[in-house]
Amino acid sequence: MSKHVMEAFEERASRARLGGGAERIKAQHEKGKLSARERIELLLDEGSFEEFDMFVQHDCHDFGMGEKHIPGDGVVTGHGRVDGRRVFVFAKDFTVFGGSLSRTHAGKIAKIQDLAMRVGAPIVGLFDAGGARIQEGVDALGGYGEVFLRNVLASGVVPQISCIMGPCAGGDVYSPAMTDFIFMVKDSSYMFVTGPDVVRTVTNEEVSAAQLGGGEIHTTRSGVADGLFAHDVEAMSQLRRLLSFLPSSNRESPPRRKSLDPVKRVEPSLETLVPDNPNVPYDVKELILKIVDEGDFFELQEDYARNIVTGFARMDGMPVGIVANQPLVLAGVLDCDASRKAARFVRFCNAFSIPLVTLVDVPGFLPGTSQEYSGLIKHGAKLLFAYSEVTVPKVTLIVRKAYGGAYVVMSSKHIRGDVNYAWPSAQIAVMGAAGAVEVLHRRERDDAEAMGRHVAEYEDRFLNPFVAAERGYIDDVIAPGETRMRICTALNMLRDKRLENPSKRNGNIPL
Ligand code: HXC
Repeated sequence: MSKHVMEAFEERASRARLGGGAERIKAQHEKGKLSARERIELLLDEGSFEEFDMFVQHDCHDFGMGEKHIPGDGVVTGHGRVDGRRVFVFAKDFTVFGGSLSRTHAGKIAKIQDLAMRVGAPIVGLFDAGGARIQEGVDALGGYGEVFLRNVLASGVVPQISCIMGPCAGGDVYSPAMTDFIFMVKDSSYMFVTGPDVVRTVTNEEVSAAQLGGGEIHTTRSGVADGLFAHDVEAMSQLRRLLSFLPSSNRESPPRRKSLDPVKRVEPSLETLVPDNPNVPYDVKELILKIVDEGDFFELQEDYARNIVTGFARMDGMPVGIVANQPLVLAGVLDCDASRKAARFVRFCNAFSIPLVTLVDVPGFLPGTSQEYSGLIKHGAKLLFAYSEVTVPKVTLIVRKAYGGAYVVMSSKHIRGDVNYAWPSAQIAVMGAAGAVEVLHRRERDDAEAMGRHVAEYEDRFLNPFVAAERGYIDDVIAPGETRMRICTALNMLRDKRLENPSKRNGNIPL
């Protein structure tokens, strides 16, 4: 090949690599953001990125777009490796038309989505973009339709992870919303259906980007995002960590690693974790960190619905999904937000064959008008539906309270819990002693001595794990210090579990 041809090729490629140009990349850096290509470099194993469609250009001629062509058209796409395992990636390039999506830009993403599904590898989307390219009209909307459709088809087939790394609107929030996980970056990322300017025009509401859809809002109030990272570099390294827990697709088992943490490690300190007084809280995360391999726990939605804890860990090297009521927050009660948070997590684990470990300390569902008006019945039912439907191995430990409907919901034997343990401190009952005695002995309400006697009787009979154990609803009452060993053994026993639900087109989870 002549030198001239090679030089022309190099020149085209380096122009494409610059996206919107050096000035715009500088502006990106000044906002504390990396460029699309810099982010991909950090996400993938060194030198593993294979780029596709670097020379794609839009074909719009309206609004003067015929004269504005930037190779790549606002998105960098391709594949590479994370810890040696194949991952597909697309990164929106804010320096090119604000990362907005044209018909051809959508075609690049759809190509990656199709390939990832065919090959069986996760898709990571890095978002920094203003939605549908306004100049393209229906072509851009249709382009989003193509991407959304593939988000749905890929759901449950390959893990889909979105990281919001700039101001994102329209399709650039709806597409992430249909993926498995959404992460954001502190102070530089925003998610809204439409930005503050449009909000002002349409509703007269004055609101800043941070108030409308900043990372704090979506990780604490709306629950749209699963985590918030300090900056782009941390975000990319945490996405790598998350991927280490996940199988590449639903055709594979989750990646098992050799663990140096002994399965038989005994933790005597767990014997004093649960306070004698049932109304005194403790931190369930202490229990999680003490039983999982090397105390490594990847928590999701840490600051949202904190009364339930969800996340990934490993036990004897095997990835597991952990769901735990958190007595430190609202006594670990189940409310609308906690039910939705856990239900979605449980269903993700099932889709990708990740066993579930459920740690129960729950006083019931949160009563009152605020919850009822918010649809607690429907939201609570989501969690019940999810736990009942899943077929992955389910190991449950009742640590303290398991009251009422919440006992049934939290992976009980009755909804196909495979191995159900309880600590000696477990209390399994329709409700706590005070409430129960109030209902059963209403006529003696004014007789303090009699009421005290009834409470003692009730506590003695029901507030222990043995009534359930006598009936086989609890497989064993275990010593707290041996929890790690017992759960690991159960998970190993269940490794080849087979269970199928009746054939159907789809169930009808109460959405
Ligand atoms: C074309 C766009 C664009 C868009 C941004 N730009 N969004 N160009 N189509 N959707 C361009 C800007 O004109 C600008 O170009 C450059 O990108 C940077 O944008 P700025 O506004 O200067 O940046 P910033 O102030 O940081 O604000 C970013 C933003 C804002 C919050 C994303 O640009 C914005 O609100 N954009 C519109 C968002 C939106 O409503 N999109 C349509 C959604 S509808 P120059 O050359 O001047 O630098 C949708 C439908 C999908 O997506 C279907 C959903 C179900």
